[in-house]
Amino acid sequence: MAAGNFGDVIKHMILLELVDVLTPKTKSGGNFNYFETHGSKMSHQVKRSSSSGVVRLCNLYHSGHPILQANLNSNKYLNFIHQYFTQAPASIDYFSSWYLVNAFLTTKEITPRIDVCEINRDTYLDTIKAINYKFPTIHYSNTEGYSLLKTYLSKGLRPSLVLIDPFYSGSDKEVQVSVSEVNHIVEVLDFYRIPFLVWYPVYSKKLKFNFINANNHIEVDNNTNNAASHMNSTGMIFSNNISHHVLGIRNDILFLDHLGLGWKVK
Ligand SMILES: C[S@@+](CC[C@H](N)C(=O)[O-])C[C@H]1O[C@@H](n2cnc3c(N)ncnc32)[C@H](O)[C@@H]1O
Repeated sequence: MAAGNFGDVIKHMILLELVDVLTPKTKSGGNFNYFETHGSKMSHQVKRSSSSGVVRLCNLYHSGHPILQANLNSNKYLNFIHQYFTQAPASIDYFSSWYLVNAFLTTKEITPRIDVCEINRDTYLDTIKAINYKFPTIHYSNTEGYSLLKTYLSKGLRPSLVLIDPFYSGSDKEVQVSVSEVNHIVEVLDFYRIPFLVWYPVYSKKLKFNFINANNHIEVDNNTNNAASHMNSTGMIFSNNISHHVLGIRNDILFLDHLGLGWKVK
């Protein structure tokens, strides 16, 4: 999946809105332990010439779109990302989910612990170089995500939130494997009552998650003809113990329907 595309934008927007409601402001700050099973790099350069979701938002920002302007401060994701829209004319530094969560929590004066797993050795080495001891709250490891998560749980560690964000690409069989791994880890997380989010794309057919129901997910349609790789819809499933936030977060992102991008929150 190309960084900064429609699916990434929706995923990151829902993620930051959720992290915000899970971390109410207290006088003493607080802690938040975030665990990501499938990490990827710290950031990717997204070409301004692409038709990705973030570039489309960037263009609206520069044209002064009134609805985007009206949500720039209140929407946690836009509030963070828009500062990068003016950086370089040719590209946008597009940050990964775990970097966004770390940066966002830091602005809330919360001390996070961010655990990130990345199985690919080259991605890991590039990222560790980029992190370069600058982010002591980020623990980035070259490990398989589900195994490390299970190890953590077996040691008594209890993350405040887990993001499960695998690839669902390849042959039908590979996609099936990915979905069944998600179905399995969700059983483990439910057993320990750990709050989690599962991101998924919708291409021609829906993926079969055992735990999806009418009330625990947000899906957004992408009726765009010019997208480089067309993703019909994308969604985020919330664990049952945080699904009471679905309605509020859905309301918070309803403005997406009015940006003229062909996006529709379902
Ligand atoms: C979809 S990307 C993650 C994007 C990131 N979560 C974000 O939103 O910015 C998936 C990443 O997970 C890595 N990966 C794939 N399988 C993995 C596994 N079993 N454990 C850990 N990392 C894995 C891939 O190498 C890739 O970099």
